Amino acid sequence: MSLINRVYVENVGAHVGEEVELRGWLYNKRSSGKIRFLLMRDGTGIVQGVMVKGSVPDEVFERFDALTQESAFGLKGKVRKEDRAPGGYELEVSDVVIYSIAHEYPIAPKEHGVEFLADRRHLWLRSSRQHAIMRVRHRIIKAIRDFFDERGFTLLDSPILTPAACEGTTTLFETEYFDLGKAYLTQSGQLYAEAGAMAFGKVYCFGPTFRAEKSKTRRHLSEFWMVEPEVAFADLNDDMDLAEEFLEYIVQSVLRDRERELKVLERNTTFLQNVKCPLPRITYDEAVEILKRKGVAFEWGNDFGGTDETIISEQFDRPVMVHRYPAQVKAFYMKRDPENPNLALAVDVLAPEGYGEIIGGSQREDDLDTLIRRIQEHQLPQEAFEWYLDLRRYGTVPHAGFGLGIERTVAWICGLDHVRETIPFPRMIYRLTP
Ligand code: 4AD
Ligand code: MG
Repeated sequence: MSLINRVYVENVGAHVGEEVELRGWLYNKRSSGKIRFLLMRDGTGIVQGVMVKGSVPDEVFERFDALTQESAFGLKGKVRKEDRAPGGYELEVSDVVIYSIAHEYPIAPKEHGVEFLADRRHLWLRSSRQHAIMRVRHRIIKAIRDFFDERGFTLLDSPILTPAACEGTTTLFETEYFDLGKAYLTQSGQLYAEAGAMAFGKVYCFGPTFRAEKSKTRRHLSEFWMVEPEVAFADLNDDMDLAEEFLEYIVQSVLRDRERELKVLERNTTFLQNVKCPLPRITYDEAVEILKRKGVAFEWGNDFGGTDETIISEQFDRPVMVHRYPAQVKAFYMKRDPENPNLALAVDVLAPEGYGEIIGGSQREDDLDTLIRRIQEHQLPQEAFEWYLDLRRYGTVPHAGFGLGIERTVAWICGLDHVRETIPFPRMIYRLTP
């Protein structure tokens, strides 16, 4: 049978009454009198194979004893519906083929400490919970691509090795770059996406981004994935319209297609079902009022911390967009509010249930002289930004965009308490392996 036509556990239900051949790994096994149950995991689900002594040749029956947890094997047998079996189907086994016998597996079906599991991330990925998370992550990424592709955006990949900082100089990863001096791992593809917007009108970049985050929080990775749309002839309101439609699309796609996985994760989806347009929009000033009302000693002009974001988002039953932050806490490229030049035309989207900022975006400064002044105020090297300034020299227009962090979005949608489980191989200040 060709690879494409192979039967996998997730679709054995379409083969009831037929003899199929499955390949996978031993998840668990148990016996009861003359009956042997083999639980196979094949990457798409778990199915149980059943053998009764006498119904298969003895040498096949005895392979049960040889199989250890995570041994690789094949099962042949007829599919039958069995409501008591995991997944609702089982295989009446006619043959067992052993591919390899696994050494004693370090991850037993019991509680392990997080560091123990993280050290064995390459194996931990096989567990049902990690499997469910990765399948949600995959669906989120597909929804992101579909959303932009269906709306006429062009994918424009931005470089990873860059000559300058985009999001402040404190979190740069630096490396030597041949004879050309220092290069930095990108913190955001945005500046390049802006060039893309002036070339294609509507673009998005989607790739890994890097920040030397010295903080050990449950929201920070040093390598994370970000999708960044950028649109020409767009202002902050257009940006917020796009962001809310985008979030609704992502969440509703996952609810529709990953119900099973969200169940494995025991995710209460009430808040997720609420993610429908319009999302509430409040100003930074209004958010500060909320904090004051809740008795938080918060000084106007500061950025919100994790707990502040949680308190603000708790006032809403869906993600909330906070706009017009004090310019002093935001990036150099953000346009100021013409009504109040102390404010930046910025927006952060805060997820409910304490997940904090998942989107950061803004309208961009489109005036050449103002932008040069901002680069100087932020003490950034102007030479490295000459190409970026060209975008204001040749056909500058109002434009806006945002960045959505994939891992924080996965953590929120899956209801996880730390981003370390949202990416296959997390990179944090204290972890570079496996
Ligand atoms: O708010 P940020 O820094 O915005 C930008 O990078 C803009 N250039 C985006 C744009 O306008 N095109 O980051 C955007 C998002 C955050 O809201 C968060 O979801 C995620 O990226 N993020 C991180 N996720 C995990 N670990 C980190 N260290 C993160 N830093 C930011
Ligand atoms: Mg931000």
